[in-house]
Amino acid sequence: MVCRNVYETLYSAINFLDNMIIINGKQTAADLRLKLKNEVDNLKFKFSKIPGLTVILVGEDAPSKIYVKNKEKSAKEIGLKSEIIKYPNTIDEKIVLNKIHELNKDDSVSGILVQLPLPKHINTKKIIDAINPDKDVDGFHPKNVGNLSSGHESPVPCTPQGCLILIKSIEPNLSGKKAVVLGRSNLNGKPMTQLLLNENCTVTIAHSKTKNLKEECLKADILVVAVGIPKLVKGDWVKKDSIVIDVGINKTEKGIIGDVDFAQASKFAKAITPVPGGVGPMTIACLLKNTIDSFKRSIV
Ligand code: GUN
Repeated sequence: MVCRNVYETLYSAINFLDNMIIINGKQTAADLRLKLKNEVDNLKFKFSKIPGLTVILVGEDAPSKIYVKNKEKSAKEIGLKSEIIKYPNTIDEKIVLNKIHELNKDDSVSGILVQLPLPKHINTKKIIDAINPDKDVDGFHPKNVGNLSSGHESPVPCTPQGCLILIKSIEPNLSGKKAVVLGRSNLNGKPMTQLLLNENCTVTIAHSKTKNLKEECLKADILVVAVGIPKLVKGDWVKKDSIVIDVGINKTEKGIIGDVDFAQASKFAKAITPVPGGVGPMTIACLLKNTIDSFKRSIV
């Protein structure tokens, strides 16, 4: 028995070192940004115009402020016109709606993003509905959600789009794979389910009310976790040789950690994203891609 445990420990260490892939989202995002920068240069040359991204930030939510700053920095680095419009926490909803109507009509703005979450007195649904679907670089407008689910062309929400690129960097053909998406948000869980379905996966969407969460996760060839609970997914929830994508960004005393216990899960997974340096950078790169795509649609 002692020998077996020693062997298992050794085996998992070898597996961890030799076979297990840490999916490098930071590098994949850098590669994508470089490609996009070249595309912006070409568009500028051809049309004497550049795509523009405008982000609206309401309030003082600390993580949102960091995300928005990173979005602006990345947009500028690849040559986009980038603007942040900031409002105080107490701003009247009507003022935000009027600004969106103004941006909808502004030809220099290819993409509009309203950073979520919004303060409670602002109706998020009303705000998203007000964005011109052609400039909705989040893909959250109901028209775009409908388009995505019915197989029409639409902007793909940035986080699940980034997750899918990372998954396919490991396993290009997902047909027939069993995927479990943990979390049912409009931002990630629901569109992620749709994207995996489009890849011919058999998809289960699991959430806080799902019975036997561990057993559901254990069936997954592809496990995407976006619940906002630090280290919820343990090693014994992870199927051997699966692909694990951790969308969680949880600020703790020990720094930023994901929704998956990386040290445990990496002993079982074939490939896993780290936090930070996994999904996060891909979300921003995909936002830049959506902004360029929106610009291209507007000039044809
Ligand atoms: N807040 C956290 N992630 C996102 C996102 O992808 N889009 C928007 N608009 N807000 C967010």
